[in-house]
Amino acid sequence: MQTFRDGLLDGKVAFVAGGTSGINLGIAKRYAQLGAKVAVVGRNPEKAANAAAEIGSDALGLSADVRDYGAIRGAMEHVVDRFGKMDIVVSGAAGNFLAPVLGMSANAFRTVVDIDLNGTFNVFRGCHDLLNTPGASLIAITAGQAVNASALQAHACAAKAGINQLIRVLALEWGPHVRVNGISPGPISNTEGMARLAPDAASRQKHYDRIAMKRWGEIEEVAECAVFLSSPAAGYITGTILDCDGGSQVGDASRIDLAKGMA
Ligand code: NAP
Ligand code: COA
Repeated sequence: MQTFRDGLLDGKVAFVAGGTSGINLGIAKRYAQLGAKVAVVGRNPEKAANAAAEIGSDALGLSADVRDYGAIRGAMEHVVDRFGKMDIVVSGAAGNFLAPVLGMSANAFRTVVDIDLNGTFNVFRGCHDLLNTPGASLIAITAGQAVNASALQAHACAAKAGINQLIRVLALEWGPHVRVNGISPGPISNTEGMARLAPDAASRQKHYDRIAMKRWGEIEEVAECAVFLSSPAAGYITGTILDCDGGSQVGDASRIDLAKGMA
């Protein structure tokens, strides 16, 4: 896929929280490919170092837990010392597992909310005075659970819904200087999220049937959305949540049989 011109992000600095694997690593790689200096952050230092090596171009791989404001702020200060002020910040760290509310302890619920929602607060609150403004772009990675109630997903639904509102509030408060948007991926192939939420063939089929476009999404497709939102092409876009989901948010396509009419 060649959608953006080489060098589009030359001179930019990008910080990707949760960028040491999966979708967020794909975003970090694409930013680097287009010229940005990139730092990725996760809890596991070895995974962070491997991700940075994979990204190349002097990428930094740092270890910090988004639940720990001081640690994430420290990682950002390190990035600014190395590369200068940040232009792009992505908050994508998340935790998830399937569990009914009655199969979830208070700590289990809190853990997911803490990583996803409080983590996004920490990343965005922590970066504000380290941003190159005006023109900085913040992106939170949210999910369809933010708007569609899903059984076994009380923690993720609550956390991602909170993220959607945090995006909107920050867009209002930081409007003149910093754009704040979200990306809501649908089911993306070869990711940890998919492995956890659709662990067997039957659940994969159920997820697949719901997708209007009748194919899984690719990490690279979410990365293109992130580049768009961080680029001048999105210069008047803030407070929006871009669905990159093959139409999953539009409705449940498994209930459509065009030959027989609506089921
Ligand atoms: P993933 O590969 O598991 O990526 C999660 C990343 O976050 C890893 O880098 C992980 O590294 C880091 N992380 C987890 N907990 C952390 C913490 N407390 N502090 C700092 N870093 C932490 O997941 P993915 O499936 O690509 O999902 C990425 C994002 O897309 C998530 O926000 C997810 O909700 C969203 N999403 C995914 C899908 C999908 O189909 N996969 C669909 C919709 C939305 P460490 O483990 O080393 O900390
Ligand atoms: N069902 C019910 N409860 C579960 C669970 C499951 N499948 N998995 C974990 N928990 C509970 C634990 O039992 C614990 O609660 P307790 O203290 O009452 O026993 C609580 O959740 C926290 O678990 P812990 O392993 O201590 O948390 P952690 O901070 O080390 O890890 C997770 C966070 C649980 C979210 C872990 O799965 C993770 O690190 N995920 C990151 C990768 C990921 O989820 N990627 C997909 C993104 S969409």
